[in-house]
Amino acid sequence: MSRIARASLRLIYDSRGRPTVEARLETEKGALGTAGAPSGESTGATEVQAFPSGGVPEALERFDSALRPRLLDLSVNDLSTVDGMLHEVDGTPNFSRIGGNTATAVSVACAIAMAAEQGRPLWQFLLRPGLDGKSYPAIVGNCLNGGRHAIGGPEIQEYHAVAEAPKPSDSIRAALEVHHLVGKRLKAKFPHAALGRGDEGGWVAPLGNVEAVGLLTDACTEVRDRLHTAVYPGLDLAASEFYRDGRYVYREQTVDPDGQVAFVAGLVDEYGLRYLEDPIQEADFDGFAALTQAVGRRALVVGDDIYTTAASRVSEGIRRHASNAVLIKVNQVGTLTDTLATVDLARRSGWKTVTSHRSGETPDAWLAHLAVAFGSAGLKCGLLGGERVAKLNELLRLATPPGN
Ligand code: PGA
Ligand code: ZN
Repeated sequence: MSRIARASLRLIYDSRGRPTVEARLETEKGALGTAGAPSGESTGATEVQAFPSGGVPEALERFDSALRPRLLDLSVNDLSTVDGMLHEVDGTPNFSRIGGNTATAVSVACAIAMAAEQGRPLWQFLLRPGLDGKSYPAIVGNCLNGGRHAIGGPEIQEYHAVAEAPKPSDSIRAALEVHHLVGKRLKAKFPHAALGRGDEGGWVAPLGNVEAVGLLTDACTEVRDRLHTAVYPGLDLAASEFYRDGRYVYREQTVDPDGQVAFVAGLVDEYGLRYLEDPIQEADFDGFAALTQAVGRRALVVGDDIYTTAASRVSEGIRRHASNAVLIKVNQVGTLTDTLATVDLARRSGWKTVTSHRSGETPDAWLAHLAVAFGSAGLKCGLLGGERVAKLNELLRLATPPGN
């Protein structure tokens, strides 16, 4: 790639109306890369820090004083050169000086610009060895919200329709129909309530934790029978968020760590859940392993807060048989190079990856390219709201290129 001729970082707002950053890089040959970084709300303890302590204004100042001169100076031959420079300029283990979101925006913008210079789509530029980019991820589509992503919902954070089909047009349609049907059922169940949607576009309703699983499962079954598309219920419990003093505190019950494993395994038995993200709090590798041992042949057990996309933590998870899949969020670890190391480690170890949005998103569509490039088993990007639909629509574009 030619040298970077222009580099800037600006403040933009995410889908919650909170400030984040967007990077814009332009090469000498005129190739452009623009990327915004999303933000989490139920963050993992071992994530990198999204912004310096002074927030986005300080991130912009640090970019101008420390990063832009280095970017303009760099002869960029591969992504790892840029990402290595980001680590070097930051100099901390968790990007607390320049901000993990700055690292993500610059790293992804750089990949987009490099791909553009080569005349290749981003997915092809990032494609992992042994893949052809022709298999598409299942859609992990958020239908009901709770926890920190909702006001007044259940403790379990996310209730998903997990739709699998060779063609994204079929999987996306099935997941959306489950969302629509859940809405219809909620309106019938609470005719006089004001129902809303949470941060990721799922419905929010005054439902109990298990009651919501039942409603979701019924909707999945009906859509599966009608469309003949494999669509099954799944959960992101985000269990660290309701784990207090050694116990998991639900509105209906409080359980100890063994009780949590039994409770979640019981849900898999009763409702046929196929996807379980963060079913156990983030420090408990043994609890994860016990649950994976119990249900790992029937369900994807996915670690989000426990791994925070860090290869070192995934490596410990693999050693301890803690799960069979890892959630991939670039800004948990900072750069694409760090992310690729985690994806490659997971793939080598026979683990699945699920490429994921954050609860505070931008309208960028690059996430769909990452899911295809990584050969991910799932793309978790929500279903409703422009910032979520942007990723689904991009996946549709990738699956049916122009001319077909
Ligand atoms: P976050 O949560 O983006 O708010 O961190 C999403 C998730 O837990 O998957
Ligand atoms: Zn999660």
